[in-house]
Amino acid sequence: MQEANRLKRLPQYLFTIMDNLKQEAAAKGKDVIDLGMGNPDLPSPPNVVEALVKAAVKPENHRYPKPTDDVSKRFRRAIAQWYDQRFGVKLDPDTEVLPLIGSKEGISHLALAFLNNDDIGMVTSPTYPVHANGIIMAGGILYNIPIGPENNFRPDFQTLPKEVVRMAKLLIVSYPHNPTAACVDLDFYNELVAWGKGKDTILCSDLAYSDIVFDGYKAPSLLQAKGARDRDAYCVEFHTCSKSYNMAGWRIGWAVGHPEILRSLAKAKSYIDFGIFPAVQEAAIEALIGPQDYVHNLVQIYKRRRDMFVPGLHALGWNVPTPKATFYIWAHIPQKFSGLTSLDFSKLLVNEAGIVTAPGTGFGEYGEGFVRFALVEPEERLKVALERLKKVLALKG
Ligand SMILES: Cc1ncc(COP(=O)(O)O)c(C=O)c1O
Repeated sequence: MQEANRLKRLPQYLFTIMDNLKQEAAAKGKDVIDLGMGNPDLPSPPNVVEALVKAAVKPENHRYPKPTDDVSKRFRRAIAQWYDQRFGVKLDPDTEVLPLIGSKEGISHLALAFLNNDDIGMVTSPTYPVHANGIIMAGGILYNIPIGPENNFRPDFQTLPKEVVRMAKLLIVSYPHNPTAACVDLDFYNELVAWGKGKDTILCSDLAYSDIVFDGYKAPSLLQAKGARDRDAYCVEFHTCSKSYNMAGWRIGWAVGHPEILRSLAKAKSYIDFGIFPAVQEAAIEALIGPQDYVHNLVQIYKRRRDMFVPGLHALGWNVPTPKATFYIWAHIPQKFSGLTSLDFSKLLVNEAGIVTAPGTGFGEYGEGFVRFALVEPEERLKVALERLKKVLALKG
């Protein structure tokens, strides 16, 4: 049976390849240290699990959820309250907040809701894969904006080709950035909104790592920018419980922003899904408006991992930048292996050291030449990884 062309047009999903390599190595009895996927390793907050358990036994939570249910209303209000506390932006919970089954779900359906066949969706390259793949699956035309150390990993909107901009219905940015860990300040969003004003382009920010920030850095929101909430600025932002509260498996996130955009996104979703298990919504309310010391402790754990692993790489002569946010390290392939593609270098690391990384091209063509480490293993395991990397770096290139 032939797959639909929309599936054939998708690039290879490198995480599947890496997962297969990991399984093969594990089957051979190798001890595998998995720094590949950005899959948080620590348990969700106990108070959140408790809220889930309490809600899961209630029969009224076993039915199809509806946006008009009491729990759905309270969840939207909790999101608005969190947003106000975190960013000082007041949202209308009924029109400017839309709960999602994880932000990945919402981002892909945003493209489906808005892109026609000759519409362009612009993303940075590299980027988190669903940004690009959602556009391709929706049948839109993907336009990659290369970002790298030469432009501080930020697109310069003024230099985008005019004919591309004219056809662009969607632009997705995401800072703190996965995979490069690049960060922006509010001026970046001020410029973006000023550029987007009067254009028929949805400005979409994916702020999955809003809370995983270090050294006093505070990640701004697109909706804090000047004019971002005007009717002719089509701004929307995606958030998730996956990273701040280690709830990746629970599948819960939300979109905020322009009511018209959210209405169409909700419309597309209403033909596809039934929303979020009410007990999971109860738990997410607890996560957002309950005590926040869990997030603070989590950030300290990632910081300790970073402060051990990055200097460890430096000591091996591998000069990687120190990330100000996220739990990723975006590492240039060492000079002596620069003849290898990022995929081949990642394969070498699995085969020689049992270390899984994400090859840079998994995030787009401009990710070539890099691999990404995700610090989602405990410090002791990261130390073992450094010892093994030392041996790999001593190999002949
Ligand atoms: C930038 C970015 N956006 C979205 C997601 C997915 O989030 P969710 O679990 O809410 O679908 C991830 C997960 O790694 C991510 O890195």
